[in-house]
Amino acid sequence: MNFDWDVLVQAAKKAMGSAYAPYSKFPVGAAARVADGRFVTGCNVENAAYGVALCAECGLISQLVLSGGGRLTHFVCVNGSGDVLMPCGRCRQLLWEHGGAELEVLTSSGVRRMDEVLPDAFGADDLA
Ligand code: THU
Repeated sequence: MNFDWDVLVQAAKKAMGSAYAPYSKFPVGAAARVADGRFVTGCNVENAAYGVALCAECGLISQLVLSGGGRLTHFVCVNGSGDVLMPCGRCRQLLWEHGGAELEVLTSSGVRRMDEVLPDAFGADDLA
C-alpha cells in the first residue's frame, strides 16, 4: 500500500496544537491510522506534579480504545516545530500492544517497523 504519510503528519501537527505542556514547553502531537481506516490522535498533557504527565501517545491509545479499538497500522508523532519525533520507550510499549511488530512508524530516518524500534519486545504472548 502506498500510504500518504503527509496526511498523518498533518493530523499529528494539528493534535500538537492542543498540547498542554506549560512545564516542559515541549508540545507533542501523535497520529495513527487504524486497520479499519479511521484515524486517532493525541497530545501530551502535563501536570504540576511533573511525573504525572501524559505523553501524546497515551491520549491516542485512549482514543483508539474508546472509539472501538482495532489494530494500529501507521504511526507518527511530532514536536512543537512539526518535526518527526521518536516515541519514548514507554510509549513504544503502548504502541506495541495495539499495533504489534508490523506497525509502521515514521521516524527521522524513514519508515521503520515497530519490531525495529522495539526489538525483542515484551508483549501479550509472553503472558500465555
Ligand atoms: N512526550 C510525549 O508526549 N511523547 C513522547 O514520546 C516523548 C515525550 C512528552 C512528555 C512531556 O510532556 C514532554 O514531551 C517532554 O518530555
